[in-house]
Amino acid sequence: MAPHDLSVLTASRTADSPNRGAGGMDSLRIRGGKPLSGEIRVGGAKNAALPLMAAALLTDGTLTLRNIPRLADIATMTSLLEQHGVTVSFEEPTNGAPGRTAKLCAAGVDNTTAPYDIVRKMRASVLVLGPLLARFGRARVSLPGGCAIGTRPVDLHLKGLEQLGAEIDLDQGYIVASAPKGLTGADVVFPFVSVGATENLLTAAALARGVTRLKNAAREPEVGDLAECLKAMGARIEGIGADTLTIEGVDALSGADHLVPPDRIETGSLAMAAAATGGDVTLVGARPDMLEQVFRAMGQAGAVIDVDGDRVRVRCPRVLGVDVMTEPYPGFPTDLQAQMMAMLARAEGASMVTESIFENRFMHVPELSRMGANINLHGRSAMVRGVNRLTGAEVMATDLRASMSLVIAALAAEGETVVNRVYHLDRGYERLEDKLAPCGAEIERIAG
Ligand code: EPZ
Repeated sequence: MAPHDLSVLTASRTADSPNRGAGGMDSLRIRGGKPLSGEIRVGGAKNAALPLMAAALLTDGTLTLRNIPRLADIATMTSLLEQHGVTVSFEEPTNGAPGRTAKLCAAGVDNTTAPYDIVRKMRASVLVLGPLLARFGRARVSLPGGCAIGTRPVDLHLKGLEQLGAEIDLDQGYIVASAPKGLTGADVVFPFVSVGATENLLTAAALARGVTRLKNAAREPEVGDLAECLKAMGARIEGIGADTLTIEGVDALSGADHLVPPDRIETGSLAMAAAATGGDVTLVGARPDMLEQVFRAMGQAGAVIDVDGDRVRVRCPRVLGVDVMTEPYPGFPTDLQAQMMAMLARAEGASMVTESIFENRFMHVPELSRMGANINLHGRSAMVRGVNRLTGAEVMATDLRASMSLVIAALAAEGETVVNRVYHLDRGYERLEDKLAPCGAEIERIAG
């Protein structure tokens, strides 16, 4: 197999572009202190869309995915799949449909290597490992390194695939996996819950010989959604939504047409922005059933949340201190911990925020402190003592959700905040400033 020249590929193949130009070193200027008020439509879920796109590698049929958000991470996954030889096209929404439609066809895959240059940009690239191995019997995927929120190893992915019969070596920073005679079903017991490992094993098992049982599987809605899409492609899966998934492998999968669910993390983030500013915002096109723990915690913190079908109205006359601990689904998500902390920074009373999923996901704390928050870290817990006011500052974050937490703090703060390195936000929030400005936020993007 000829190694790919990535510079040629990125120049000749057009990935969908993230928000506004290159994103580069853009920043957001926010003048805070105004309650948000109005309606915001929620976009498609990034963390559902990424594994779904990787699942296109499992078939030579066309996988149609609707409601794909316009995000930098989607552009990265598109580039990755294109360099494998997958054709990817996007159609803009018509007739009031919520998001873009992607059509992916992996009939002409000519390269089973996921190169370092793409994987280092986005860890979710490792989700191509299971599908490539299951369909082509081999894959060479750059090992994702650590990242801002922790070391994040992929040992569970690799051990699980070995249990399905894969041979795995590490060579010059790459995972080299092979299964010349195909994969065979097995019982895989995860020692702890991993979303990505469950997704890689689920896609691999769909084409393995015999029955696979994934025990202590992640129950995140994005995992269930991937399983539903695989079923529509012809996979046999039972136990969706439970902690044991049973997969009876089939010889081949076909294309399918699948609707990406709304982004529960975007929904929660916007709800927290509304609450932190004492606003009145209705989120439209949401799936409130995926946010029960989040809305419970927000309710304890003083938010009034009214659910009407796919509409969620959030008001918050005063924010009260509350204790929150992140846990695998259905617990409070780690992906909303930073945003909740920003909301609690101005609470009446103290809150204890405990992070149990990642070892280093408190990068927002020093920046929130620079805006006047009173937060002390004790190991995996943060003691947040509510302050009367936050003040604007120039801040910067090193990951997506931490950046969103700074935006929330900025919206609630007095004066002007400049949030630098907005490319982190563009990885996971579509047109954030365009969604917030109609609700009264004074927010503008400054090209960097
Ligand atoms: C997914 O990451 C999400 N990403 C993350 O969202 C999310 O924070 C995380 O799940 C937890 O909910 C996508 O879905 C694309 P894990 P993933 O494997 O699958 C450890 C965002 O902001 N672990 O469930 O990589 C790991 O280090 C992102 O949108 C191992 O030790 O997370 C972590 O501590 C960030 N070995 C814990 O398990 C392994 O082999 C849970 O990670 C795998 C994981």
